[in-house]
Amino acid sequence: MTDDDKRAAALAAVEEVKSGMLIGLGTGSTAAFAIGRLGELVRAGLKIRAVATSLRTESMARMAGITLVDFATVDSVDLTIDGADEIDERLFAIKGAGGAMLREKIVAAASRRMIVIADSSKRVDRVGKAKLPVEVLPFARGFVATRLADLGAKTALRAERSDQGNIIIDAFFAEMPDPCALAMGLSAIPGVLGHGLFLDEVDCAYIGGGGRVIRLDR
Ligand code: A5P
Repeated sequence: MTDDDKRAAALAAVEEVKSGMLIGLGTGSTAAFAIGRLGELVRAGLKIRAVATSLRTESMARMAGITLVDFATVDSVDLTIDGADEIDERLFAIKGAGGAMLREKIVAAASRRMIVIADSSKRVDRVGKAKLPVEVLPFARGFVATRLADLGAKTALRAERSDQGNIIIDAFFAEMPDPCALAMGLSAIPGVLGHGLFLDEVDCAYIGGGGRVIRLDR
């Protein structure tokens, strides 16, 4: 049961949250279970503050009674809990199916510890099958699409914009033998504002499946 697996992974990660922490709240259906659980704990007396990685997460956290801080005023986060679209043994992840990968990466990079939570369908031998979302300055749409094609991707423009008002191009690669080189190549394209390859950020993953939770550490 995917939802049970997502919930189990989320609850395991929330066990790491301690009073006084500033928490990074991820985006997506798995992160939503963590936000719900944190809301319960806050109502029971847990003292935390949080930053949100998307507008959806912000409103979910508000409804859960979690105190939010403007990320623009923050220089570091104690612990971030977020989902992923793919995660492998190296703790390389692909994120951004929900379009929030730019804020998610900034918050992850600011975090002393970043935990991915996922059901076992997200666990892969090597990342590279999932679509790779790329956030792009609208001005640079055609130029970036051509550069992505030069890197070997088929591309699809999403209808909806990011929370920042930018466009999102989903890049599909037949294979991804060297994610590090690809990430550098993407970051070097003027007009690319962010992408969903998370190669350095993830410290730990809790993967729910078959009634248990597996933990992967960097
Ligand atoms: C949001 O932009 C994404 O990075 C999500 O964290 C990722 O897509 C996982 O979402 P689910 O938990 O809904 O699968």
